[in-house]
Amino acid sequence: MPLVRRERELFAPAADDLRIRFFFLLGVNLLVHPNLDALSFLLESGAEIARPVLEKDEETKGEKDEQNRPEKRADESHAATLADRLWTVNASFRSVRQRVAPMLRCRMRVPLLDLSAQYERLADPIRREFDEILRTQSFILGPKVEEFERALAEHCGARHAIGVSSGTDAQLAIMMALGIGAGDAVITSAYTFFATGGCIARLGATPRFVDIDPATFNLSPVALEEFIGRRCRRNRDGRLIDDEGRIVRAIVPVHLFGLCCDMDPINQIAAQNGLTVIEDAAQAIGAEYPTAARGVRQAGTMSAAGSFSFYPSKNLGAAGDAGAIVCDDDALAERFRIFRQHGMEPRYFHHVVGGNFRLDALQAAVLWIKLPYLNEWSTARRGVADFYREQFEHAGLTNRIALPTEPYRASGLMNHHIYHQYVIRTPQRDDLQKHLAAREIGSAVYYPLGLHQQKCFAALGYRAGDLPETERAARETLALPIFPELTHEMQHAVVGAIADFLK
Ligand SMILES: Cc1ncc(COP(=O)(O)O)c(C=O)c1O
Repeated sequence: MPLVRRERELFAPAADDLRIRFFFLLGVNLLVHPNLDALSFLLESGAEIARPVLEKDEETKGEKDEQNRPEKRADESHAATLADRLWTVNASFRSVRQRVAPMLRCRMRVPLLDLSAQYERLADPIRREFDEILRTQSFILGPKVEEFERALAEHCGARHAIGVSSGTDAQLAIMMALGIGAGDAVITSAYTFFATGGCIARLGATPRFVDIDPATFNLSPVALEEFIGRRCRRNRDGRLIDDEGRIVRAIVPVHLFGLCCDMDPINQIAAQNGLTVIEDAAQAIGAEYPTAARGVRQAGTMSAAGSFSFYPSKNLGAAGDAGAIVCDDDALAERFRIFRQHGMEPRYFHHVVGGNFRLDALQAAVLWIKLPYLNEWSTARRGVADFYREQFEHAGLTNRIALPTEPYRASGLMNHHIYHQYVIRTPQRDDLQKHLAAREIGSAVYYPLGLHQQKCFAALGYRAGDLPETERAARETLALPIFPELTHEMQHAVVGAIADFLK
């Protein structure tokens, strides 16, 4: 009997129907959405369903074929072979999964960021809080904001947290309260979001951009020391003056992508030169650093004051714009509170000019609900980063792309990196990004131009090549999808697509 006919007979109508459905689902699954977990499930359940059906089929057949023993034996062994084949396919599927994955997964859509799962989990408590605020009609500052401020201060290990309207306003309020303004210079990194430099310029001060450490993308303490040594001097009062006669007031290190700057040398250089340090911790809430003198400290709490952004895409994101300042100094905290309300104290009496930097109760409520989950989310992000590394190593790509570095991991800190972004670098960045976009894999360039080369800062006179590491990072870096709910399968798709591009 020809093999095909024998198989058709073996799979009696019920099995036939099952087989058709099974392979139909398999085909649809592969073509429309190559979801490997579903594929694995189908193979597993297909084999499981098929075995009893085949056995039952055999029994029925056995009764019919009682007189035809040699043929029955052949059919029996053929049925067993078929069932085994399904099991084997499934087993080998598991083992070839790694190799086949990039080919199959290339059609999987992977967003750069997806906040919907996070919201679904917390929708009920958020809605309850919103209802309560709408009932009380108490929208600006007030008890909800204070409750969040207390929780945030405790979470960060700071004496004070002051809720404000955005990360940008947090920086603005800090610098205003410190009296930074026209005629002053503030040293900061050129490789950062615009707000860092923009706030300095908005106050009439001049940003002095310093290059980054290429391994971490953060302000380089070596470049900082060199800038002060080469471009600054002391005046008669012992104050640090830049090469254009401005008083250098502060250093703003930016903890980029969720990794703390190397704060010990930065604080040391600042102390030696009488400069105030203000941390831009917009992207690094909860990130830790092993200080030599004060033990493990969190981003934002290693200087005079730190600023956070709660822009929705941040690790701790609001439902709109929001931010906070943290500090340990009681008097300074009071000044920040006054500056966030037009310099008003008491009501309608203004001793200084501040701004409207108030946080509203709806945002504070969202942040207060989310804050207890922050560590869990950061841990999940580190898990994503670990799996990316594993997969890039497995694919043999670590000599073709540079992965994020983790300089504080060996210190045993839990939050040695909070992976606000997972940023790789390659000289073929632009082509790689196009390739990923064609496969519906999200990616982003943070940032395509150093601040020193932005048009609005042209008057500062920087030229191409002045800050080579910043410029190289702007050409080479690419942020890949990262969020706590990113699945291994999605990561396979990302790594597979990158492997295809580089091969
Ligand atoms: C490094 C850095 N500084 C400042 C800010 C400004 O924060 P916000 O957007 O909340 O004003 C951001 C926001 O993305 C940032 O990434």
